[in-house]
Amino acid sequence: PILPVILSGGSGTRLWPLSREAYPKQFLPLTGERTMLQATWLRVADIAAQAPIVVANESHRFVAAEQLQQVGTAPSAILLEPAGRNTAPAIAAAALEARRNGEDPLLLVLPSDHLINDIPRFHQAIAQAASLAGQGKLVTFGIQPTAPETGYGYIKAVAGEGPRAIERFVEKPDLQTAQGYVASGEYYWNSGMFLFRASRYLEELERLQPQILAACRTSWERARRDSDFIRLDADAFQASPSDSIDYAVMEKTADAAVVPLDAGWSDVGSWTALRDVSAQDADGNAHRGDVIAIDCHNTFAYGDRLIAMVGLKDVVVVETDDAVLVGRSDRMQEVKDVVARLKADG
Ligand code: GDD
Ligand code: MG
Repeated sequence: PILPVILSGGSGTRLWPLSREAYPKQFLPLTGERTMLQATWLRVADIAAQAPIVVANESHRFVAAEQLQQVGTAPSAILLEPAGRNTAPAIAAAALEARRNGEDPLLLVLPSDHLINDIPRFHQAIAQAASLAGQGKLVTFGIQPTAPETGYGYIKAVAGEGPRAIERFVEKPDLQTAQGYVASGEYYWNSGMFLFRASRYLEELERLQPQILAACRTSWERARRDSDFIRLDADAFQASPSDSIDYAVMEKTADAAVVPLDAGWSDVGSWTALRDVSAQDADGNAHRGDVIAIDCHNTFAYGDRLIAMVGLKDVVVVETDDAVLVGRSDRMQEVKDVVARLKADG
């Protein structure tokens, strides 16, 4: 039985000014009618044995619950973090909750802010992963890389094809290393989705990062349960080291496997990523909203009010009620620096 665990704690700073701390991208309908969180659940609802466990920041409890209710789901549990400690602790809390009644389901860990076009192929990959996870493997989903992205994990599988063991997992390499990996043709991107038995993850965490597991266990045992929410104990949870599953477990475990996934995956991690998954005109322009573009090439514009652009190339324009972003498309990773500056300036 597959139990989805939806990670909904990110802040999506690279999609500023649309994505805000109070309302990060997973709660926005960035690519369709449904919000990213809703789409994440609906994409797996058919193959899930139970409603999902959602792990979110405590400040997002109502929006998370409401958005799932809108698509007809009452989550199995909504675990609330007092503050983010990254994904390794979030998944640990979910695994402890999943094991609560002595059960040991396969956890399908899903970021709440990805896009997948080909659902049947995605389901096929999950079925392949389930058989490996049943044998105790920690399974990743590998994407054929198209660029030396430094924000991703890289997976080198053992020689062969199809689902197979991992030889090496490298989280967020530097640019030169990433270029080498992509050129070699031997690496996949890590999609950030995982499948494993709850008990296997907890075992590996115990071995590799016992402090994280100990803190999460205490926090989960002392959690306050009200009807809809499980509030993790704040002091215990905040005592956990902050680390991602990628660094804490996947880089180090000897039991990782990969299932290749070719299903139109995108993590919509930046404005250019959103441009790439949007319909483009013959000049490579993509727009959301009311836009007039004269003699423009490879632009992306997003907003409610009319946006007019003349003679622009490789530019992104995003307008919202209280802020406007204008920037070069090849520098959209730096939007997070704008957010950092705003925070520093109070
Ligand atoms: N509940 C909770 N708590 N969720 C969190 C937290 C947290 O503290 N931190 C992050 N998340 C959620 C985010 O909302 C997102 O859905 C997911 O976990 C992954 O976190 P990111 O912060 O987006 O990770 P990343 O993009 O840097 O890297 C991961 O994803 C890449 C693919 O998109 C890694 O798994 C990489 O290896 C991978 O290539
Ligand atoms: Mg991400």
